[in-house]
Amino acid sequence: MPSLPTTNYKYDYQLVPDDGEHVEKRRANTKKRLLFHFVAVMAVLYAAFSGIRYGARAGWLKGCAGKMRYSTKTQLPSHYTLPSGDKIPSVALGVWQAGKGEVGQAVKVALDAGYRHIDGAWIYRNEEEVGQALKESSVPREEIWLTSKLWNTFHAPEDVEPALDESLAKLGTDYLDLYIIHWPVAFKKGSNNELDEQLTADPYPTWQALEALVDKGKVKNIGVSNFNIPRLANLTANNLKYRPAVNQVELNFWNPQPDLLKWAKEHNLLLEAYSPLGSNKQVKETLERPEIQQIAKDLGITPAQVIISWHVQRGTVVLPKSVTPSRIQENFKVTALPDDAFAKLEAAATAHPPQRVVNPSKNWGLPFDVFEDYPY
Ligand code: A2P
Repeated sequence: MPSLPTTNYKYDYQLVPDDGEHVEKRRANTKKRLLFHFVAVMAVLYAAFSGIRYGARAGWLKGCAGKMRYSTKTQLPSHYTLPSGDKIPSVALGVWQAGKGEVGQAVKVALDAGYRHIDGAWIYRNEEEVGQALKESSVPREEIWLTSKLWNTFHAPEDVEPALDESLAKLGTDYLDLYIIHWPVAFKKGSNNELDEQLTADPYPTWQALEALVDKGKVKNIGVSNFNIPRLANLTANNLKYRPAVNQVELNFWNPQPDLLKWAKEHNLLLEAYSPLGSNKQVKETLERPEIQQIAKDLGITPAQVIISWHVQRGTVVLPKSVTPSRIQENFKVTALPDDAFAKLEAAATAHPPQRVVNPSKNWGLPFDVFEDYPY
């Protein structure tokens, strides 16, 4: 039978000369112990935190604190991926109705606050000032998502590229991230209210001119705006080289358009929400809605943040307009609403008859309602 080794384990440590090698070993052991304690403490904290979260979800903690009234939350997307593979930021600064002398400052404040998406249009008549602000900013062009829109007067295929070139020159850039047909309404060449019935009924020739801009590299993505489902179906029934990547439409508490949103999701078409707060005409009424006020109070955020977050949670890009620095900063801070708060807001928004803020059909003297009637 082999004899057992006689090493004195108890005092082994003390008997060994304290040379560098053993100092290192001791240090390593101490590190191991510290690491073990750290892992143990983290595990206890994690278990406690999970318990609290589970309790909150299960409703055990209901009523303990305002912020715990709601259950699960989903994560809000910071970007959406378009068919081109490009990633479009989910929150933009909208510059419709941002006047000259204030829009440039608004763009600068927005970029400083972290916005990387500016939604403009030729017809807003402020592209030069937006361009100047972009030029003066230290944010590189390639980090900013720039959208502009083709005005109704320029739907004739040969007018599309010159119209884009004018926007590019004003914005001080040689490409757009997104170029959109502003309205499904074509005016005759040079006119600002005479309907071109043919190009209005069939926008495919205009669309082909936009597709050519993608091939030239002047525009990365193309889309439409203010198209209803029959108009979208009419355009996409053609053999398109590039399908519309977005449809920018009015979406807010008063006009939430759940059917269009459902259709768009089923057809891989991203909606962009303009007038998301109800525009200047109805922003006050929106923010004062009791459901919105209550959610804001419970979550410790502002009513505008509730609405803007709701839009992103619905899966749309949101384009709040503001020229007020504190509001621009406020509007960028979106947060996922707990599922039941989201459902409550969705139910409230869809419970009343839809009410549009924006409809220029009468002003333009159209013989149809651009949102209701089709064909035209
Ligand atoms: P302002 O530009 O003077 O700051 P929408 O985005 O629906 O078109 O709404 C724009 C209107 O809402 C503008 O009148 C804008 O005013 C106002 N607005 C934008 N953000 C906020 C906010 N966080 N709180 C209150 N009003 C806001």
